[in-house]
Amino acid sequence: MADNAPIGVFDSGVGGLSVLREIHARLPGESLLYLADSGHVPYGEKSPAFIRERCRSIAAFFLSEGAKALVLACNTATAAGIAELRELYPTVPLVGMEPAVKPAAQATRSGVVGVLATTGTLKSAKFAALLDRFASDVRVITQPCPGLVERIEAGELDTQATRSLLRGFVEPLIEQGCDTLILGCTHYPFIKPLLVQMLPPTVRLVDTGAAVARHLETVLAARDRLGSSGAATRFWSSGDPRRLAGVLPVLWGEHGDVAYFPG
Ligand code: DGL
Repeated sequence: MADNAPIGVFDSGVGGLSVLREIHARLPGESLLYLADSGHVPYGEKSPAFIRERCRSIAAFFLSEGAKALVLACNTATAAGIAELRELYPTVPLVGMEPAVKPAAQATRSGVVGVLATTGTLKSAKFAALLDRFASDVRVITQPCPGLVERIEAGELDTQATRSLLRGFVEPLIEQGCDTLILGCTHYPFIKPLLVQMLPPTVRLVDTGAAVARHLETVLAARDRLGSSGAATRFWSSGDPRRLAGVLPVLWGEHGDVAYFPG
C-alpha cells in the first residue's frame, strides 16, 4: 500500500532546496513540504541549543501538517539536533546529512581532502566522530566559511563579493595539495559553477544531496511507506515569504506559493 502523506524537508534557508531537488528527482511520487528557516539564518554561527530549539519547533509543525517523514536538509541542524529529534519521535523516519567524508577519503589520490562547512558543523562531536571513523588514513583540512551562506541567501551566486570570499576559502586548500573537496553545507551546491571555474580541473567536488535522496528511499521502502502520487510542493519561510518565492524559479526550477511560518 502506498503512503501518500507528505515528507517535511527543512534547512536554515534556501540551501536545502539543493537537497529537495534531488529528492524530487528520485522520488517523484512523494509530496514534499519545504520550510526555509530564513528568519534565523545562518545556523552556522549559532549555539547548538538554539538550533535544537529550531529543530523541535519545525518538526512539530511538519508533524501537525501530517508529515510521514522528516529530512534535515542541513548539515548544521543534523549535527546539533537530529539525536534529540530521534528521541522525541522514535517512530518517525528521520533523515539527516553529514559531510561526505567516507566517499572523499576513498576518492582522494593526493591523500589530502578539504571540507567546506559551517563553523557549527566542523565544531560538532558528530563531525569529529566521522573523521575518526573514516579519515584515519588521509589528511583532512577543514575550512569554515563564515559569510558565504549569507551571500547565497542574498541570491549572489556569481558576484565579485562571493567570488573573492570563496577564493579566500579554497586557495589555501589547493596550495596544500587538496584534490577532493567536500561541500559540507547544503547551500554550497548552488555555487558549484563558481567553484569549478576557480579550482584546478583535477579537484573533485563531493556533495551529499543525491545520497540523501537514495537513503530516504531506502528508509521509506523498508517501512513500506513510499508514496505513489506526488502533489505540488508546498513552501514556508520564517523570513519574508516573498524573498523565498522570488528565488524559487532559480534554485528550485519552478514558481511556488510560500506561506509565512511564525514558529
Ligand atoms: N545549509 C546549512 C548546512 O547544511 C547551514 C547554513 C547556515 O545556516 O549556516 O549546514
